[in-house]
Amino acid sequence: MIERLTIRRPDDWHVHLRDGDMLRAVAGYTARQFARAIVMPNLTPPVTSVAAVEAYRDRILAALPAGADFTPLMTCYLTDDSDPAEIARGHASGAWVACKLYPAHATTNSAHGVTDIRALTAVLETLQRIGMPLLIHGEVTDRDIDIFDREAVFVERVLAPLVRDYPELRIVLEHVTTTEAVDFVASAGPHVAATITPQHLLINRNALFDGGLRPHAYCLPVAKRERHRLAVRRAAVSGSPKFFLGTDSAPHGVHRKEAACGCAGIFNAPFALEGYARVFEEEGALDRLEGFASEHGARFYGLPLNDGTVTLERAAVTVPERIGEGDLAVVPFHAGETLAWRFVG
Ligand code: NCD
Ligand code: ZN
Ligand code: ZN
Repeated sequence: MIERLTIRRPDDWHVHLRDGDMLRAVAGYTARQFARAIVMPNLTPPVTSVAAVEAYRDRILAALPAGADFTPLMTCYLTDDSDPAEIARGHASGAWVACKLYPAHATTNSAHGVTDIRALTAVLETLQRIGMPLLIHGEVTDRDIDIFDREAVFVERVLAPLVRDYPELRIVLEHVTTTEAVDFVASAGPHVAATITPQHLLINRNALFDGGLRPHAYCLPVAKRERHRLAVRRAAVSGSPKFFLGTDSAPHGVHRKEAACGCAGIFNAPFALEGYARVFEEEGALDRLEGFASEHGARFYGLPLNDGTVTLERAAVTVPERIGEGDLAVVPFHAGETLAWRFVG
């Protein structure tokens, strides 16, 4: 049995670091495990301008613990009014590395998102031309589509035509949860990739109703049936360069989760690698964790691989029931459970 696992320093290709006090409370967890992270722009107000993203990046750097070696990779939130010239300007200067497409009202802080992707022609042409990735929350928002079908319907109605119309556009379908999404990405060309979260590898939709309503298992896209979880697992451990680590760590204060209308989002940053290691071990694929966590994403984004390594050791770790105090108290993924791998550093 393997007792220690050392891999190249990994990156998180999808994280919500939030802002203000919550940013200061959570940034250290991501910086502890990951060298770089793609930081989502769904703040209030959303990050839509070069000036806003530069200021947000500075706030992230200021929030990091002393001595942290962590690079936030910033993103631009697309709206119906996004200006292709501003996007290209920020890309050329290095202010942001990708654009994020939230269908309007699909998820947390997406009210300013895109109402009709057909209105984005000039933006999409620009992204394709300059080689800037488009990151997608891939769910339709039609209320007549069952919530468990929203990703599969998005793939068919929106993503497939998009890939057809913009064959050179670099696309990351974020936090994939279904057989349909995994199959689409696997069979698309090399410009189409996907991130995979720990929760979608570890829980199915039963977790939402396990003995009662479980708000801390609720995120979007919502966890699906077991057969979908197994398909997502197969993709993660397949060794395919199209699938890479993106935690979608999305902290919300306990009071905002345990409410009549609880927020979507799972805070998994404190034990992210431990969760992924469990999955890869269960699948007999620990030798493929490094590709998934530390290589595929960097190659897709055209960035160098990180120097240095991190180590996990086989040791029981009990996950706290809560992290933080007062309004900043957050329930982490795996709260109260004991995990088999421990992140050493
Ligand atoms: C994310 C959040 O809270 O910002 N929530 C979630 O359930 N995943 C938004 C998102 O990634 O869709
Ligand atoms: Zn999302
Ligand atoms: Zn997210």
